[in-house]
Amino acid sequence: MKKTLNNLAKFETLASDHDPTTKASSANSSGITSAAFQFHHSDLFSVHFDQHPNFTEMCGIFAYLNYDVSRERRYILEVLFNGLRRLEYRGYDSAGISIDSSSVAGAVRSPSDPPLVFRQEGNIESLVKSVYQEVSATDLNLEESFSVHAGIAHTRWATHGEPAPRNSHPQSSGAENDFLVVHNGVITNYEVLKQSLLRHGYTFESETDTEVIPKLAKFVFDKANEGGDQTVTFSEVVLEVMRHLEGAYALIFKSRHYPNELIACKRGSPLLLGVKEFAEEQNNGTSYNEMNFISKNGHPKELFLSSDPHALVEHTKKVLVIEDSEVVDIKDGGVTILKFDNGKRKDGKSLSRPASVQRALSILEMEVEQISKGKYKYYMQKEIHEQPESLTTTMRGRLIRGGSSKRKSVLLGGLKDHLKTIRRSRRIVFIGCGTSYNAALAARPILEELCGIPVMMEIASDLLDRQAPVYRDDTTIFVSQSGETADTLNALEYALENGALCVGITNTVGSSVARNTHCGVHINAGSEIGVASTKAYTSQIVVMAMVALAIGADTISTKQRREGIIESLLNLPGKIREVLKLDEEMKELARSLISEQSLLMFGRGYNYATALEGALKVKEVALMHSEGILAGEMKHGPLALVDETLPIVVIATRDQCFSKQQSVIQQLKARKGRLIVMCTEGDAAAVCGGSCRVIEVPQVVDCLQPVVNIVPLQLLAYHLTVLRGYNVDQPRNLAKSVTTE
Ligand code: UD1
Ligand code: BG6
Repeated sequence: MKKTLNNLAKFETLASDHDPTTKASSANSSGITSAAFQFHHSDLFSVHFDQHPNFTEMCGIFAYLNYDVSRERRYILEVLFNGLRRLEYRGYDSAGISIDSSSVAGAVRSPSDPPLVFRQEGNIESLVKSVYQEVSATDLNLEESFSVHAGIAHTRWATHGEPAPRNSHPQSSGAENDFLVVHNGVITNYEVLKQSLLRHGYTFESETDTEVIPKLAKFVFDKANEGGDQTVTFSEVVLEVMRHLEGAYALIFKSRHYPNELIACKRGSPLLLGVKEFAEEQNNGTSYNEMNFISKNGHPKELFLSSDPHALVEHTKKVLVIEDSEVVDIKDGGVTILKFDNGKRKDGKSLSRPASVQRALSILEMEVEQISKGKYKYYMQKEIHEQPESLTTTMRGRLIRGGSSKRKSVLLGGLKDHLKTIRRSRRIVFIGCGTSYNAALAARPILEELCGIPVMMEIASDLLDRQAPVYRDDTTIFVSQSGETADTLNALEYALENGALCVGITNTVGSSVARNTHCGVHINAGSEIGVASTKAYTSQIVVMAMVALAIGADTISTKQRREGIIESLLNLPGKIREVLKLDEEMKELARSLISEQSLLMFGRGYNYATALEGALKVKEVALMHSEGILAGEMKHGPLALVDETLPIVVIATRDQCFSKQQSVIQQLKARKGRLIVMCTEGDAAAVCGGSCRVIEVPQVVDCLQPVVNIVPLQLLAYHLTVLRGYNVDQPRNLAKSVTTE
């Protein structure tokens, strides 16, 4: 996929918006030609640059343009801040916005005053505070009304170039803010572009890859206008800039030379346009134009651009999913979409021509409630508590019970046509990262049991590091909540190249995993906003158990077992409701562990994954060292750590490993281990004779027990975090979706 993206980056001809045939030539009326942008070929290749994706950021972009709808500056600021708040969950360490300095409604083609740029490291609230401080220091009028205004905003997650105002976005072309850019993704050839711009006298303020973009825009603009008349359009400038960019990106451009206009484009990184139209006069501000296409110029409307639907849904559900190599020009209340045609000319050279396209709007399948915390204080808390409902949705329509034979079966629409191929495969290889990997590990035993096919586990990055063998007769299953994790996507590309059947299990319809796998299953858990994955984990396990049931459905000998599992699946939401009643007890346990340095978790069999995932939750959010340990390995190292102070959670619910876990408990007790034992309801006395702390959980069929068992550990991690005073929803240094290697 990455390769394809890089290829798309090579636009061969100059682009223009209305007449693709005449303006595709290298000299046109706008005055921009390939030659006008005088980077010599040698410049582009003379500087060695490292394509290492370290120069990347996981970011969020948001823009708000009101057209013929009067909005005060204060309102505009709040819309931008709120947009950023909706992107917060993805993880970030700095933020910024740009708004106009004074009313520019009349400034159609003459440069307006330089836009204002505010950038701040830290959270959105520190940006908000600093903006209002600056506003009052400079007497900026918050009540000033704009009938048309274009504002842009950004959250940055730094991996190169420390979090600092100078590295935050919008990045600027220079002192006058002629061109401003917010950017998601990575410009892989930024070093070489920077060298060329330096030679042309540009100076750089930041260490970002982004800064070359606005500077390049200014370069292109200035060259085109050397003659004096400003005839070059904003989209022409951007198209010329894009021609020189390599990598994956979503970009929004704002310029004082093109007041009240925004250009958005993308290649690789997601970007959506949200449209809220007002019928005729916007008297009441609530009536929408019901058309499925964006109306042409002149109609009052509000337009939003965002890298994430969460920032749009409170404004509008009408969206346009911007596609790769599209350039969206928002101007005078109209939206023009330019699409590149990467066709071939007769002489064999590739021809990239922009053509204006009209696309229908889609409706976002998301409710505002999904992105609000409801009665809860934190998203993680809400998501833990909504697991009975999310699991119900995951299973809805997929478990079939009834018919004359009272047969119970599973129907996975996305897999049914591929089951034969999967059954014939040599291996099933699970591939994922973090919690998604753990969920696959939890489901592995039931897949092995019901499918009789060897099941391998691969952490995506490790598979790639080893370039491990993947064969044509393998079924590779990619598990990813977001469907956008870079390591998982790279492993997917690798598996596709090697000819394996690629199956996706993801929560995100339309994500890269969903689009690029041959088939798959959506887990339908609803939006997960807390960085620490909770409800997606349980839904993933349930989906994988259903996958095992579907693959094994043709085996008569396991019919009873399968029906038992289906019955247990149907009862699972109720059991989760029961186990959630441990909330207070887990809070109390957290209180007793609040100042510990470390917490170990021992599990085996079905619940080895529970130990890993429980420990991952504690370390991610409570910032406490925690390790999940395979109990069978206890004597081969971890036992050395055991003393009367180190707290250890031992998972010993009823399954075929129960007696082995009892023996583990005895050995730990013999070394005065400080034990917290998770056991099946009613087993407290049996597992530790009343001498240790217990967490009693309801029993379900063994292979689904990990779904129940993780819940108290999620609650424990949540309460530990709150009690230790850390941020539950945005843990230090972590991002919801890691879109870079
Ligand atoms: C689908 C519909 C659902 C509808 C149901 C009715 C979608 C997203 N789902 O659900 O709204 O109620 O039919 O029968 O429209 N896929 C991948 N890779 C992945 C995930 C999914 O290729 O990682 C593919 C599947 O193979 C399938 C499609 O996406 O072709 C939809 O998958 P899924 O939503 O799981 O299918 P259904 O449960 O049948
Ligand atoms: C990040 C998240 O590290 O990515 C984790 O913070 C998540 O919670 C991991 O498990 C994998 O993400 P995904 O979207 O591929 O499941």
